[in-house]
Amino acid sequence: MESPSFMRPSITVGAALAALYAAYVLGLVLYRLYFSPLAKFPGPKLAAVSKWYEFYYDVVLRGQFTFQIQRMHKKYGPIVRINPFELHIQDSKYWDDLYTGHKEYERYAWMSGRFGANTTTSSTVGSHLHAIRRAPLNPMFSKRSITKLEPLVHEKVELLSTGLAAYHGTGRVVCLNDAFNAFAGDVIASYCFGFSYDQLRSRDFQVNFHSAYEAQMIGAGVETVAWALTTTVFHLLDSPSSLNKLRTELSEAISDPTKIPDSSTLEQLPYLAACVKEGVRISTGVSVRLPRVSPTKPMQYKGWVIPPGTPVSMTTLDVLRDEQIFPDPVCFHPERWLDKPKTEDGDSLSRYFVPFGKGPRMCIGIK
Ligand code: HEM
Repeated sequence: MESPSFMRPSITVGAALAALYAAYVLGLVLYRLYFSPLAKFPGPKLAAVSKWYEFYYDVVLRGQFTFQIQRMHKKYGPIVRINPFELHIQDSKYWDDLYTGHKEYERYAWMSGRFGANTTTSSTVGSHLHAIRRAPLNPMFSKRSITKLEPLVHEKVELLSTGLAAYHGTGRVVCLNDAFNAFAGDVIASYCFGFSYDQLRSRDFQVNFHSAYEAQMIGAGVETVAWALTTTVFHLLDSPSSLNKLRTELSEAISDPTKIPDSSTLEQLPYLAACVKEGVRISTGVSVRLPRVSPTKPMQYKGWVIPPGTPVSMTTLDVLRDEQIFPDPVCFHPERWLDKPKTEDGDSLSRYFVPFGKGPRMCIGIK
């Protein structure tokens, strides 16, 4: 056997590098656990040590990290460290503080380049640049502009109805999610890009997008809308009493069923509005956390002082399914929105209607 003094230099260099790397990893682990400014915050040690923890839940188990964060809150309380760099808060009353209280809060750069496009309004990190980029888009999504869009929406509703009617008597099953994706895709693409792929006319409403920018608008606008419509229709079909109430209200309000009334008429119908709100609440189009970063000043949550630069998130799902605010949160119950409802604490229930976010970065497509 060779004595150590005769070992090949490449082996010695390799071993030295491996030892160096092991020392680096050990140092990093110790730093993240005991010396990082976030070390004092509660949470699983494994999550504090490495982002592979999040990778495991979101990539290996596919989209499960949101639910794992909920389990962390059950164990560790309303504020948890969810990875080496980020905190998450589960406290519905704090929503307004985090999202509307501070215009200077920024997006978290690491999460902004999702969908393969990192120079769009929604992915802009700095609050000042975001405001500049968003300003020209606001008029396009104002109530007035959206009202002008009504003839286009009516045309697409007619196409959707024709498409759905084609299934009648054929024994074929219609995938409502595809149908609503085609509907939302055609409306939004026609409005935003000036053309659409006419998916409402394609067989079985097959959807097909072509670029990262389209995909981002699709992610933001189409899937959320389609999912809300699908969920609402599912729950209405699953709940005959709600469906009957809605049908009665609609047939009383619409004298000629062959003509679609304009949106200002429909918005006056309380049960319809309640069904829409409940459908949007329960479908929770965006279930990923929404991080905000205070660039220079510390944030404050109860007794906790959060160092500047720390991404802090909340998740719409946590608020929209908070049983203190929405009893039986997973049940479709439009009545909860009727007659200006309040929470047990006397807050307006609408304060907690956060599926579109709130504040300067809230959804531009809310109308
Ligand atoms: C039910 C339907 C929808 C839901 C639940 C929804 C939800 C959201 C949420 C939660 C955000 C993030 C807010 C934040 O970071 O604080 C957002 C942002 C955004 N949404 Fe929507 N959205 C919907 C429909 C739409 C539609 C129809 C469009 C456009 C056609 C749209 C375009 C956008 C854009 C551009 C942003 C980024 C805004 C910014 O950063 O300034 N969304 N949406």
